[in-house]
Amino acid sequence: MEYQELNLPSRTIMTPGPVEADPRVLRALSTPIIGQFDPQFLNLMDETSDLLRYVFQTSNHRAFPVDGTSRSGLEAVLTSIIEPGDKVLVPVFGRFGYLLTEMVDRAGGQTHMMEAEWGQVYDPQDVIAEIKKINPKVVAVVHGETSTGRMQPLEEIGAFCRENDILFVVDAVATLAGVEFNTDEWNVDAVITGTQKCLAVPTGMAPLTYNDRIEEILLARKKIERGLSYDAVNDKKIQSNYFDLSQIQDYWSPDRLNHHTESTTMLYALREGLRVIKEEGIKSRIDRHTKHGKALSLGLKAMGVELFGEEENKLPVVTIVKVPEGISEQAVRQTMLNQFGIEIAGAFGPLKGKVWRIGSMGYSSRKNNILRVLSALESTLTYFGAKVNKGDAVQATLEYYAEADNPVIYKV
Ligand SMILES: Cc1ncc(COP(=O)(O)O)c(C=O)c1O
Repeated sequence: MEYQELNLPSRTIMTPGPVEADPRVLRALSTPIIGQFDPQFLNLMDETSDLLRYVFQTSNHRAFPVDGTSRSGLEAVLTSIIEPGDKVLVPVFGRFGYLLTEMVDRAGGQTHMMEAEWGQVYDPQDVIAEIKKINPKVVAVVHGETSTGRMQPLEEIGAFCRENDILFVVDAVATLAGVEFNTDEWNVDAVITGTQKCLAVPTGMAPLTYNDRIEEILLARKKIERGLSYDAVNDKKIQSNYFDLSQIQDYWSPDRLNHHTESTTMLYALREGLRVIKEEGIKSRIDRHTKHGKALSLGLKAMGVELFGEEENKLPVVTIVKVPEGISEQAVRQTMLNQFGIEIAGAFGPLKGKVWRIGSMGYSSRKNNILRVLSALESTLTYFGAKVNKGDAVQATLEYYAEADNPVIYKV
């Protein structure tokens, strides 16, 4: 058998992740390797922490990536702060909320789960009422649920947790750098993101930040150094070596105490992705995501398909479309991929087979991608016999862009 050199088709990726990486990031990925303790590389680590503080909107001392996909960061935080028996409240409103409950459980915590119907989010006052009832050590919640396309308001919950000395941990995997997220202002103690969504970098790192309230717990659970031997007598010890944030933070400190071997290549990519964000400006980037998310929704409505969930709590970077009666969810996705080279996503759990999930994240959040996905979906639905308003989606979206891009010229 002969194995050919990689030669893949180019794709337009309109899923909730992974999305297209910024071309500058792809170029950075081909930079030659240097050693993890090379002073040039140490400098790149410091710059990455600085850039992360900017994107997370925080003055936290600790801001670095964990190597692994987004869940590695989630697991690192939860495993490092949860001790056996600790009460953790998780308000679940989709698949990734359940992931948090699984991690809490594996860390030995006592999960108190709230469950909302898929498509709903929580009134913050309901979460606060539950916190009062349970009195947990930690509240862990997803900000943007990619499984349902919904976004949970965080500010009131954060303020209540801080006033009552409860730790507030947030999964901002789908939202950071695409939707407003203010770590410090919203009193979030630890926040974790992923690289493959609004950061426009390939999957493989989980940037996170946390404050002194979290660090205090890490230090109390820290492995006691006795040369290189492992101290088995610390009964508060963090269960995992790979996800032990007390050790990872030492690696990311000026001491550079070796924990793992950093992926220099992924760090080049993350740093470049963050540099692109800094150049674009976090506010402009969020405005761009908002604009293209609106364009997509507006085009879909003009096409005559139905959107899932209420507008009020919509996650701006993920739009969920109901599959019309009599149409095969899978056949439409396959046709879009095979005939148009455009990828959209199916769904999980109760929504499986019933909806498509269309992302507009990171480098994929741009006008030509939105117009392409709308025209390909319309043609594919027409091909399979669905009733759609032919031509309306792209026309309505072009008009929207004409006004949004040139408000003055358009009005003259
Ligand atoms: C909201 C949310 N949290 C967590 C994850 C897990 O991310 P990963 O697959 O990078 O581990 C995802 C992935 O899609 C997600 O959308």
